[in-house]
Amino acid sequence: MSDQLGVLADRIRAARRLTILTGAGISAASGVPTFRGEDGLWRRHRAEDLATPEAFERNPRLVWEWYDWRRGKLAGCRPNAGHHVIAAWSGSDPGDGSYRGRTLVTDRLKVVVITQNVDDLHVRAGTRNLIRIHGSIWELSCWDTCAKGAAGWRDERVPLDDLPPRCPHCGGFARPAVVWFGEALRTDHLRVALEATACDVFLTVGTSAVVYPAAGLVHDARRQGAFTAEINLEATPASAAVDVALQGGAEVILPRLAELARL
Ligand code: OAD
Repeated sequence: MSDQLGVLADRIRAARRLTILTGAGISAASGVPTFRGEDGLWRRHRAEDLATPEAFERNPRLVWEWYDWRRGKLAGCRPNAGHHVIAAWSGSDPGDGSYRGRTLVTDRLKVVVITQNVDDLHVRAGTRNLIRIHGSIWELSCWDTCAKGAAGWRDERVPLDDLPPRCPHCGGFARPAVVWFGEALRTDHLRVALEATACDVFLTVGTSAVVYPAAGLVHDARRQGAFTAEINLEATPASAAVDVALQGGAEVILPRLAELARL
């Protein structure tokens, strides 16, 4: 493992473009439940009942009860060492003393962070160049996509007063401004994410690598010649395809990598 860590650190140190894809696993050490792990959300709930437009159409209150519960759990969560390393690499100083490594961002290194997570933990860690391809659980939009409500708004109340909450513009139902199964990613997000696969190092962190199009990005990067790496507690469908697969917690491995890769 330490050999592989060293190889990846060397690659990162030499890179001009570093792209990082994160999934629920990066937030696990912050107390955020994952979807497919042992205690994962999809072990107890069916995605079809809670995270599709059809589910909302059928029972908006049930869907909102679940999102309201998740918002309540997330409200007490803080970014962990993994988020802070990525934030520092992206050019930000988290300012809380949790990560003392020098930023990797220099005039010659561009970092793009693509996250599937709807929690705000990368944002709260100060991550720059962040694309949130599945949206944010703290944002709502108009279910009827009325002229003013379609773009969405922020609502951090926990719990929400009335479920389902209403669009402040047209009075119709509001929905969580997240991407549900069966929905397309925003075209600008997809474009930037695909562009970011043209990189020197593509690092995937804490994702089960089964939900597309996110899961395809590492393969796109590899086809274009990137050095590819994965950090995960366990093997995933991507493990055999990447150059380096590191098994362990992101909150442990990323700080070690940061120490080794320090410019
Ligand atoms: P998953 O729950 O599918 O996968 C989380 C991954 O993180 C698993 O492979 C775990 O082994 C790994 N993991 C857990 N703890 C870890 C840790 N401390 N360090 C490193 N890895 C760890 O979550 P995602 O891959 O993010 O989409 O799921 C992708 C999408 O499916 C989500 O964005 C969501 C979900 O359904 C929608 O809701 C549209």
